[in-house]
Amino acid sequence: MTARTLPYDEHAIGEAARLIAQGKPVAIPTETVYGLAADATQPHAVAAIYAAKGRPSFNPLIVHVLDLAAADAIAELPEPARRLAETFWPGPLTLVAPLRPGASIATLATAGLPTVALRSPAHPAMRDLLRSSGKPLAAPSANASGTISPTRAEHVFRSLGDRIALIVDAGPTSVGLESTIAAVSDDGFRILRPGPITADRLAAASGLAMVAGGSDKVEAPGQLAQHYAPSKPVRLDAREARDGEWLIGFGAVAGHVSLSPKGNLAEAAARLFDLLHQADAGPAPRIAVAPIPTDGLGTAINDRLRRAAA
Ligand code: TXA
Ligand code: MG
Repeated sequence: MTARTLPYDEHAIGEAARLIAQGKPVAIPTETVYGLAADATQPHAVAAIYAAKGRPSFNPLIVHVLDLAAADAIAELPEPARRLAETFWPGPLTLVAPLRPGASIATLATAGLPTVALRSPAHPAMRDLLRSSGKPLAAPSANASGTISPTRAEHVFRSLGDRIALIVDAGPTSVGLESTIAAVSDDGFRILRPGPITADRLAAASGLAMVAGGSDKVEAPGQLAQHYAPSKPVRLDAREARDGEWLIGFGAVAGHVSLSPKGNLAEAAARLFDLLHQADAGPAPRIAVAPIPTDGLGTAINDRLRRAAA
């Protein structure tokens, strides 16, 4: 099988919805990264995602929905989680909540956990597919398990081109880092994966405090240290390139290429995976990355960099 790449338009969404109905996974952009989407209610469709990614079957997937009403049909969201959904959806926030008894989500999508991870994406392509298919869509990042997440259709093709039927191409994604994952209760929230929506913004919108100890506890295998790894060694906090290194710069550190010459964190987040892909494909045997500040979006960028270097 060789994937067809179709530019994002009505025809492409029609083709994608047809494949989804047949239980086949389709690569489609979200505002964070490209996802490999399949009908979350069909066990064999979800199994096809795991097979294409070569993903360990115990690693649960994020289920994508159009809105809070669709999320309510699947999970029992506590009040503060609903406030967060109202504030940040559609957008790069995933909420983990107890699965509603009788919800029609395939057990494989939650890896048998009593909870489910839900997100309402903002990208029009993914929203069109949710509308056309009329199903909740399980979608991990559209890359082989353990490799760098895709922010362009070409990245998907290189990683999964011989394992899936269709890639919908809408150009590079705007956010560039996977969604923030938060588990919310009436007493507080834990961040299971730092991302584009920072802890400060979650605290302000929920009126709750962050409960520490979330991200260092292995809640699900996606939290394993090495998860976004290029095939080459990666050195962090580099101010100049050593022998054999391809230096990815930021701000004052120019590098061979730069995440953001002006030192803008949003620009750096959007470019991070693309530059890691380029460095991985290039001739230099090692990769180095300039220091990135740890405030705001820097938390999520540094999280992904630590995993790339692990
Ligand atoms: O931005 C994103 O979130 C992208 C786009 C495609 O939406 N998706 C994504 O999905 O990153 P994925 O499958 O690569 O990441 C899913 C992560 C897993 O690593 C797992 O740790 C966590 O979500 N997860 C899923 N269900 C969970 C649950 N019930 N409890 C705790 N963590 C869960
Ligand atoms: Mg992933």
